[in-house]
Amino acid sequence: MTDDGLRTPRLSLRRWRTTDLEPFAAMNADPEVMRWFPSALDREGSDAMVGRIETHWADRGFGLWAVEVLASERGPAPFVGFVGLAVPRFEPPFAATDPCVEIGWRLARPWWGLGLATEGAREVLRQGFGDLGLTEVVSFTVPPNLASQRVMQKLGLRYDGVFTHPGAERSDWWAQHVLYRLEVDAWRARTEASGRTSP
Ligand SMILES: CC(C)(COP(=O)(O)OP(=O)(O)OC[C@H]1O[C@@H](n2cnc3c(N)ncnc32)[C@H](O)[C@@H]1OP(=O)(O)O)[C@@H](O)C(=O)NCCC(=O)NCCS
Repeated sequence: MTDDGLRTPRLSLRRWRTTDLEPFAAMNADPEVMRWFPSALDREGSDAMVGRIETHWADRGFGLWAVEVLASERGPAPFVGFVGLAVPRFEPPFAATDPCVEIGWRLARPWWGLGLATEGAREVLRQGFGDLGLTEVVSFTVPPNLASQRVMQKLGLRYDGVFTHPGAERSDWWAQHVLYRLEVDAWRARTEASGRTSP
């Protein structure tokens, strides 16, 4: 980790800039990007989310990184979304560390399908289990969000059942969530094994 963020072969994960607000609002208004969330966000809601992300950084010393593409088959881009760690705003209704730390991602549609979320999140796990000394990271989404679950699986998180989101009414279509988790020991074993098989 550098002072100003994380690097991967194709990405810079960095702190947020004012110039990110407009493209972030555009992706948060895209119904496809927000398909598996209760609703899309208008500009005010999107800016408020960046405000909460910055407060989280100030309070916790870690948070959701803004993602910049340095190079890719679709070119570079100064801002394509976020990947990072966050403490959920709800009391987890499942066994969790204190605080519970979630890994999450959201990218603008033109950047889907290149492996960028997985690439960024892999580095975020290294930050979480390495520099931050976390013992467990969780992730969750609604059952039909298969792309997000695939990212969780590729990172080595294991499925651990379903829970009802505390912010939802039982009748809400998004109430049920699938839970995935990864403990530091499993992450370390996996990282060491992939290091042994890499050329
Ligand atoms: C989830 C998201 C971040 C994935 O980003 P991405 O950079 O395209 O992810 P990756 O390319 O690293 O991996 C996606 C994987 O899901 C798979 N996938 C994509 N759509 C899928 C679908 N409908 N069904 C099953 N698998 C799917 C891809 O094939 C890929 O797996 P593979 O490498 O084995 O082929 C992106 O789709 C997104 O921003 N979605 C909207 C926001 C969101 O849902 N965020 C998560 C909320 S919990």
